[in-house]
Amino acid sequence: MNLGIYGGSFNPPHLGHSSAARLAMEQLGLDKLIFVPAAHPPHKQLPADAPQPEDRLAMTALAADGMLLPDRVEVSPMELEREGPSYTADTMEQLRREYPEAQLWLLMGADMLLSLQDWHQPEKILALTGVAAFARSGGDSQARLEEHAAMLQERFSGQVRVLPAPEPVEISSTRLRELLARGEGTEYLHPSVYGYIIRRGLYGVDYDLKHLPERELEACACSMMRAKRIAHVQGTRDEAVRLAKRWGANQEHAARAALLHDCTKYLDMQQQLQLCHQYGIVLDDLEQRAVKLLHAKTGAWVARDVYGEPEEVFQAIYWHTTGKADMTLLEKILYIADYMEPTRSFDGVERLRELAYRDLDQAVLAGCEMSIAEMAQRGLPVHYNTVEARDFLIKADI
Ligand SMILES: [Fe+2]
Ligand SMILES: [Fe+2]
Repeated sequence: MNLGIYGGSFNPPHLGHSSAARLAMEQLGLDKLIFVPAAHPPHKQLPADAPQPEDRLAMTALAADGMLLPDRVEVSPMELEREGPSYTADTMEQLRREYPEAQLWLLMGADMLLSLQDWHQPEKILALTGVAAFARSGGDSQARLEEHAAMLQERFSGQVRVLPAPEPVEISSTRLRELLARGEGTEYLHPSVYGYIIRRGLYGVDYDLKHLPERELEACACSMMRAKRIAHVQGTRDEAVRLAKRWGANQEHAARAALLHDCTKYLDMQQQLQLCHQYGIVLDDLEQRAVKLLHAKTGAWVARDVYGEPEEVFQAIYWHTTGKADMTLLEKILYIADYMEPTRSFDGVERLRELAYRDLDQAVLAGCEMSIAEMAQRGLPVHYNTVEARDFLIKADI
């Protein structure tokens, strides 16, 4: 196995890191890549107001997840968990023990390679791992690095490779921190990392969470879910806004409800129950057993309590999973948008899409019937609210 190790402060992790990681995976044929945020980098001082190591770890995990290679890209807290300075030699020794059969590749920038001989125990590092350095775009970097790599190989008899410069994302973490403090530079961040920065108020980014513009709300929502769900949430937002336009609902509320509708989906049962306790959410029998159902209620409360969303948005999120009898316009819109947004594909989705723009009630009825049939087919109990939603629509003789 070829295993890449990408260390650094990741303060914050940005798109330049992801692009370098992708390039290394390709060039070195890596089966796996591990980001290792450093606790106390020995070669550079972190700024005094730097985020806590836990924050850098969480942001790096979000950035890694954003690469959408969940089985091949990981983040390790090993340097954060170790006492004392983060010596690369110790990290590589630990990884060598964990992966005795793997070919290790330590990834680094050009500057780091040029000073590698001055690090703590460079001979040990090169005995444990190959080193691959990224050239800088433009200039004579490549030739100079090749020369330096040859010198290191000769002196320490290790493997040193120079990789081409990654897709130029012209940003350094230092510059990015300056930009963020001025409310700029967010285009260099994965949205979920930006959302985390907003939620934690890092790098001088200072928003009132209860009055976020839609773009910032979207980033926060992204930071609360796995990257693979983001397309679904954005699709639901787009669909909900289109439906709101078609049926005369509040488009801003439709967008915000859709962005937050699954914001607690990734919490486990214990975290869900903790939120239920905090917000006094009373659970019925089914909900106590089905963690999947709880995210609608806890998500609604987070939308209201953390993000200051109004009652209409709260209710739409609250009922988005089960539906209920006598739903409001926005409740119907979110229910059906979630069901048939553009990334969904299942038998009958085209019919739902057509129906949603022709007769919203018929579409919601069809959605309820599909849910009931699916649960029956899987031998799972149907939530009574879904049955009541269906019965209400039938009785209303739509
Ligand atoms: Fe949901
Ligand atoms: Fe959803």
